Amino acid sequence: MAILKTDAKEITLNDGAAVIDAAEELGVPFGCRQGICGACKTEVVEGMENLGEKNAEENDMALEPNERLMCQCKIVKGTVKIKV
Ligand code: FES
Repeated sequence: MAILKTDAKEITLNDGAAVIDAAEELGVPFGCRQGICGACKTEVVEGMENLGEKNAEENDMALEPNERLMCQCKIVKGTVKIKV
């Protein structure tokens, strides 16, 4: 079991799940959902190590070390806190 959360709310996910639906429920805005537009670029406040490796789309995006694309990343395990 894994958890994606903000200060306000938390959502339980299966280990290894894509975070996109949970992130949307937490209020992250989405556009393309394909790793191109950058709309879902989100600051990860805690638990960055619990997200899977960046894919090609994330590597192509100019992300800060504390940012990920919520339409692309997966949660491996544990808890990840994002800033929305
Ligand atoms: S929604 Fe466009 S990059 Fe994620």
